Parts: sequence; structure tokens; C-alpha cells
Amino acid sequence: MGQQMIPLFTLLPLLLSLCGGQSSNPGRPSCRSCDLHLSCDCSRGQFTHVPIVTSRALTLDLSFNNITMVTDVDLTGHERLRTLSLHGNRVAGIHPAAFDSLWSLEELDLSHNQLTSLNPDWFQELGALLRLNLLHNPYRCVGSSPVFHGLVRLRRLAFGGPALEEIKMAALSGVTELETLTVHANNLSSGPFLTNMALASAVLRDVSYPETPIVLEDLHLIGNRSTQPLRELAKRRVRNMTFRNLSVSDEATVSVIEILDGVPLTYFSIDGVTLTGEGRWEKASWADFHSIDEFFIQNIVVLDVFKFVSLLRLKFLLQYPRRVSVINSRMFVIPCDTTFLMSSLQYLDLSDNLLTDMTLVETLCSKRGALKDLRVLNISGNALKSLSTLSRLVERLHKLTHLDISRNFYSSMPGSCSWPSTLRYLNISGAKLTTITPCLPKTLEVLDLSNNDLQGVTVALPALRELRLSGNKLLRLPPGSWFPNLQTLTVQSNTLNMFDRSDLRSFPRLQNLQAGQNKFVCTCDFVAFLQSSIRGDEDVRLTDGEESYICDSPFLLQGEPVGQIYLSFVLCHRDLFVSLCCGVALVVGILVCVLLWRLHALWYLRMMWAWLRAKHSSRRRRLRNRLESEALLSYDAFVSYSEKDAGWVETFLVPELEEPRETDEDSVNHTDPRPLTLCLHKRDFLPGHWIMDNIMSAMERSRRTVFVLSQNFVQSDWCRYELDFSHFWLFDGDTRGEPAILILLEPLSKDDVPKRFCKLRKLMSSTTYLEWPQEEERRGEFWRSLRSALRGDGEEDE
Ligand SMILES: *[C@@H]1O[C@H](CO)[C@@H](O)[C@H](O)[C@H]1NC(C)=O
Ligand SMILES: *[C@@H]1O[C@H](CO)[C@@H](O)[C@H](O)[C@H]1NC(C)=O
Ligand SMILES: *[C@@H]1O[C@H](CO)[C@@H](O)[C@H](O)[C@H]1NC(C)=O
Ligand SMILES: *[C@@H]1O[C@H](CO)[C@@H](O)[C@H](O)[C@H]1NC(C)=O
Ligand SMILES: *[C@@H]1O[C@H](CO)[C@@H](O)[C@H](O)[C@H]1NC(C)=O
Ligand SMILES: *[C@@H]1O[C@H](CO)[C@@H](O)[C@H](O)[C@H]1NC(C)=O
Ligand SMILES: *[C@@H]1O[C@H](CO)[C@@H](O)[C@H](O)[C@H]1NC(C)=O
Repeated sequence: MGQQMIPLFTLLPLLLSLCGGQSSNPGRPSCRSCDLHLSCDCSRGQFTHVPIVTSRALTLDLSFNNITMVTDVDLTGHERLRTLSLHGNRVAGIHPAAFDSLWSLEELDLSHNQLTSLNPDWFQELGALLRLNLLHNPYRCVGSSPVFHGLVRLRRLAFGGPALEEIKMAALSGVTELETLTVHANNLSSGPFLTNMALASAVLRDVSYPETPIVLEDLHLIGNRSTQPLRELAKRRVRNMTFRNLSVSDEATVSVIEILDGVPLTYFSIDGVTLTGEGRWEKASWADFHSIDEFFIQNIVVLDVFKFVSLLRLKFLLQYPRRVSVINSRMFVIPCDTTFLMSSLQYLDLSDNLLTDMTLVETLCSKRGALKDLRVLNISGNALKSLSTLSRLVERLHKLTHLDISRNFYSSMPGSCSWPSTLRYLNISGAKLTTITPCLPKTLEVLDLSNNDLQGVTVALPALRELRLSGNKLLRLPPGSWFPNLQTLTVQSNTLNMFDRSDLRSFPRLQNLQAGQNKFVCTCDFVAFLQSSIRGDEDVRLTDGEESYICDSPFLLQGEPVGQIYLSFVLCHRDLFVSLCCGVALVVGILVCVLLWRLHALWYLRMMWAWLRAKHSSRRRRLRNRLESEALLSYDAFVSYSEKDAGWVETFLVPELEEPRETDEDSVNHTDPRPLTLCLHKRDFLPGHWIMDNIMSAMERSRRTVFVLSQNFVQSDWCRYELDFSHFWLFDGDTRGEPAILILLEPLSKDDVPKRFCKLRKLMSSTTYLEWPQEEERRGEFWRSLRSALRGDGEEDE
């Protein structure tokens, strides 16, 4: 029986786990990396299934995982999801109803997967979708059915990839408001654009409308045949055209220019172009591009730099554009003549090239009227060194408002410079400036000096609205009075220790401050101030997020975010705390005193003191021998009574015991009616001694102690001491019989005695006491008993 039980028990967990595994989805992990904005970054998590994520998520990034399938339940409940990315997985199958609950989805990225066909059912419920990316999937055909029919709000669509061979007419039906369409034509470059021009033309005819920006990627154009499909674009009179990753020969260039002749193109952009020819484009010199407004060229590679003739050949189209950008193209000069031709130019961006001070002189051609309308000049990321040369060159650009000279090699600033009076924006970030001088134009509204080596800012700029000083070596904020109009100040990543309310108030108009990533010393004042700023209680807002403010010191707080520090009251208000403590201690002290007084603590203390002394003297006494102590005894009894009972003691007790009368029955019967000697404190105490000493010595010298108990006695403290000493004798092992004799003057029960006189209460219960009779006839008996008790009967009779 027992042996059969064992396998059952070992099986049980297995069964349970099997059941558990079946009830939830097997192998579906969960992902919890969601931030405060409900954006969940589950990318690169090696997930093979769509992980379980909170249904409140707004953004879900599943890119670069190993997901192969999206089932119908994977995304149920995600009604709030706005953005979903499955980019870079191995998704080969998507259930037709997989996206059905994503009513709020605005962006869906399925690029770089293994989808071999597109199913219209996927997108049926995605009425809110704005952007859809289907690039780089191995589907060969788009549009055999109206795939995107339900996507009425779609603005951006991207599809295509290396395998795309066919785009059917129906592909884009229902998509009416497209702003950007990207068709990836990688295979078309070697295939259709060269061999199957009919197909390529059909594609372009389908997708191009005048308002649709066209992006053509990864084209390799050689000869005038390969460019023929572009005629469709020309026919459609497209306005916005972009080539990305283009490789083009001289002949193809000429052909493209010819094809686009007269097309009202306003924006022409090439991002990444390899020029395989020598720049011999003369044949195209008559083309008409009068509508062109902007040329944007980035990343040009000229294969044969040394044979390449200048872009001067394109002078027929240089006079039209207002905006020209030639970025990151290893350009070291624009000949003065070419510059002069760009007569409409308002915006010139030559960033990330190889301009030097010398070639800049040529480029910004000083011919009369050259660049007369230029408003924005961007020459960031070049090899410029001299600010005085630059200021001299731009001084005559009478409309220049923006000058970006960031990421150059300026290391010093001349004492004074001349600038166009229109200059409002100057960016000298990423240089090597150590000081700044009044060379800076006073007209500036935006000045970027970040990432230099500045230790201070010592120039007043009255018009400045925005000042950026991040990445320098500032120890403190610049004085605010020099920047009366400053609204935004950025001083991140400096060596700032702290700043306070008055620092910020010195800027009359400051609204936004970014001062994170500094070496903050977290004092109480600073922490309190910063926390109130983070809460938004201050005039100046911290716009760079509280997580940028980290304590550097004190050591205890190093690395702690300032916003989350709690500095205790004790730490921050030491003086106040100390005085408060003292106050509390005083009050408590007073309370304790009152309490002690109420509880008769003083009485107990005095008792204790007396007890100690008695103990001490008892030890002394014990050293003497008994004879000696007998000799010391000069009284028969010490009478302890309350002052208020003195009358009774004097009229009854003393006469009765000290002067026995003849008529007394007792004396008649007795052979030796010897008078007893009593010790009365009133009579026998030595004046001038401490009363305690008197009591003790009186007790020591008396054989017995008589306590005259009454209400009065109980209320008198001194009587209590006496009682206690006698009690102490009792316990001290004195063998003189019953040393304490209690006389009750009036009926007094144990309960009438206050609790703290515990010894009296004990004595009353252990010792028999004599009651003073109110009736005359019973008093004889009383006196007899008392006398015999005082004589210590047994002892005397022997
Ligand atoms: C995805 O899974 C395959 C095998 O199924 C594995 O070879 C590959 O390394 C995985 N990729 C990632 C990014 O985990
Ligand atoms: C490009 O298309 C051709 C058919 O036109 C096809 O054979 C080839 O495999 C495709 N290329 C790629 C990289 O898929
Ligand atoms: C650019 O296009 C060529 C084909 O013309 C392709 O081989 C290359 O990978 C593309 N480069 C990039 C960065 O896309
Ligand atoms: C292509 O160029 C050749 C000469 O190089 C010319 O004979 C031919 O007509 C051109 N074709 C077109 C369509 O322009
Ligand atoms: C042209 O389209 C691009 C996107 O491809 C866009 O960035 C640019 O602003 C558009 N230009 C004009 C003038 O519409
Ligand atoms: C100048 O170009 C750089 C790099 O392309 C860019 O970051 C910067 O914003 C541009 N400046 C202006 C004023 O457009
Ligand atoms: C100044 O230039 C740098 C680098 O080009 C850029 O990052 C920064 O945004 C520019 N500053 C302003 C205020 O535009």
C-alpha cells in the first residue's frame, strides 16, 4: 500500500504542472519592460512568440526577436495600442484575425519579416492606422486583391523588397489620402528598371500623384534606357521626389534631367548618391527647373574625384532654389562663380564637409550681390578656426539671421567682431572655446555654447532668450542680470554644485531650466528647493526630467536621485530640533516631578535613605556583644505616636506605666510593680540632632517599640519611619521577643491604612494588637496586657 503511494505522490506535481501548462498558452513568455508612458520595449528579447504584455500598453516594440507567428489570441485585449512594431522578426504567418482588436492602432511595422503574401483580412479592423510598413518581406506580388482597402486614414505606406516583382492596379484602391508612399525597388533596379520597363512604368504610374512624395530607393541607373520609367513621374507632374541610395552615371544623370525638364518639381532630394561619371552633364544645360525650391543632397560619393568637373555645369538650375543643402559630401569649396549664381538662395547648409577658413572665403564669394538674400547659413562640422575671418565674411550678409558654426575648431575669440545687425541665432557648440568675449553679437536671441571648455560666461547679452551652456566647466550659474530677457537656460553636464531660488530669481524672465547631470551637493536647502521645482511649485520649470538630478555628495547620498531623497527633519533643522528636544525634556521632567510628588516618591526616597542608614547602624550594632547592647538599653519602650495623640499618651499611657498607682489591681496582685521607663520623642529626644538619628537611637536604646495607632498616626510621616525601623528589627533577627506592640486607639482596620504603608499593614496582620477600650471597666485588663507585653512575659517570669 505504502509503496504504491509513492509514485502517486511523485506524479501529482507533474499532473498539476501539465494541467497548468494546458490552461495557459504554452511557452508564451511575458514582457514587463514598460515605462511610465506605457511604452513597452520588448525588442531583442529572443522571444519566439508574442509575449504577454499589459493590455494597457500604448506602444509595443517587438522588433528584433525570433517571432514566427502571430496567432489570433496574441494581441487580443490591446484595444488601446497605438504603435506595434514586429520589425526584424521571422514572421511567416499572421492569423487573419490577429489584429482585429487593435482598433486604436496608428502605426504598424511588419518590415523585415518572412511574409510571402499579404492578406487583406489583417487590416480590416485597423480603421485608425496612419502608417504601415511592409518593406522587405518576400512577397512577390502586391495588389491581387485590394489589400489596403479598409485603411481609410492611411498617410504613409511602404512596401516592396528584394522579391517584389509585381504590383497590380488594384493595390492602392481605397487609399485616398496617402502622403508618403515608399515602394522598395531593389529588385527593380537590376530587373524591371533595366529589363521590364513596362512593369516599372506601371508601378510608377499607379503610385504617383502630384501631391505624393515619391521615394525611390536603391536604384542603379546606367544609360538612358534605365531612366525611362521616370517619364511616368514626369507625366504625373510629381512635386516632391527623393532618391535614396542611388548610383548614377553621367548619361543617366543627363537623361533624368531631360526627363524632368519642365516638371513643376519643388523638392528634389538625394540621400546617398554615388556619381560614377565625370560630371559631364552639358547636354542637359537647357532644362527648365524654374519651380524648384529646394535641393537637398546628402552623402554624395564621387567615384572619380580627380576627373570630376565642377557642378558649375548645373548653373541653369542654380538660380531657382531658395534652399540648398549639400551635407556630408566631402566638399571643400564652392567656387565663387557658382555661389554667385545661386541668386535666390536664402538657406544654405554645407554642414559636415571639408571647408576651411581659406575655402570659405571663396565659397561665401564677396562679389557684389552674392548671397544677398541669405538668411540661414549652416557650416557646422567643417574645419574652420578663425572667428574673425568668419565675422568679416558674414558681415555683409545683410539678411543673415541664423548662423550655425558648431562643431568647428574655434578655440579663441577675438576681442571684438562685426556681425550683420540681423543675426539672431548663433551656434558655436562643440568647439574648443575657453573664454568668450564681447565679440559675441549683442543682437543674439539664441546662443548655443554647449560642449566647449568655458568656465564662466562674462558677457551681457540683453536680447538673449535662449542660452545653452551644457557640457562646459561652469561652477555656478551665470549672473542673471546680464540676461534680462533669458527664458530658457541649459547648463547640463557642467560642474555645478548647487543653485538656489535667488540664483534663478536674478534672471527676470527665466522659465525653463535644464541643469541635470551636474555634481550636486545635496544640502537640505538645495534638495528642498529642487524638489519644489520638480513639483512645479517654483517660477522656473525644470524641463529635463527629475531623473537627471543626481546627488554627487555627501557620500551617503551619492547616486541618489535628488527628487526621491528624503532628508529627515532632524538632519535639516538641527537647531530647531535640539531646542524642541530640550523643551520636550523639560516638560517631561516637570510631568515626572508632578507624578513623583503625586505618588509620594520623595517619601519612598527618604524611606530608602533611612533604611540604608538603619541597615548600616545595625551592622555596627551586631558587632557589639549582647551584654553591651543590654547595657545600652535605657528604656523599656519607645512610644511612637502621632502628635495629635499626645493627649492620650500624656494623660493615660505615661502616668499608668511610669507611675503605677496603688489602687491598681495589677500592682496589688503583682510582687514587683516596677515602673517602666518610656522614651517619648517630645521629652527624651536630644535637641539639635536630626530627627531620624534621634528616632533610631531611641529605638536602639529601647527594648520595645509601642505604636499608638490611630487615624492620626497613619497620616503622620515620622511615625511611619519608626514603624519601619521596628519592622526592620523584626527582620534583622533580633531575638528580644516581640519588639513591636501595637495599640489601636480607635477601631482601625487594615484597609484604612494607605497601601504604601505596606509594612504597617503587614504588621497589623501578623502581630496581635491591643485595642484601647472605650469602657472604663475594661481598661484595667488593657493595662495588664500592655504591661506584660512590655516586660516580655516569658523572659521576666523565669
Ligand atoms: C532565432 O532562432 C534560430 C533558431 O530557431 C537561431 O539560430 C537564432 O540565433 C535565433 N535568433 C535570435 C536573434 O535569437
Ligand atoms: C528579383 O526578381 C527576379 C525575377 O524578376 C527573381 O528571380 C529574383 O529572385 C529576385 N531577386 C531577389 C533578391 O529576390
Ligand atoms: C544601395 O543599393 C545597392 C543596390 O543598388 C545595394 O546593394 C546596397 O545594399 C544599398 N545600400 C544600402 C545602405 O541600402
Ligand atoms: C539614348 O542615348 C542614345 C545615344 O547615346 C540615343 O541615340 C538615344 O536616342 C537615347 N534614347 C532616348 C530614349 O533618349
Ligand atoms: C517632400 O517629402 C519629404 C519626405 O519624403 C518631406 O520630408 C519633405 O518635407 C517634402 N517636401 C515638400 C516641399 O513637401
Ligand atoms: C546645421 O546642420 C546640423 C547638422 O546637419 C544640424 O544639426 C543643425 O540643426 C543645422 N542648423 C540649422 C540652423 O539648421
Ligand atoms: C547647435 O548645433 C548642435 C550640433 O550641430 C546641435 O546639436 C544643436 O541642436 C544646435 N543648437 C541649437 C540651439 O539649435
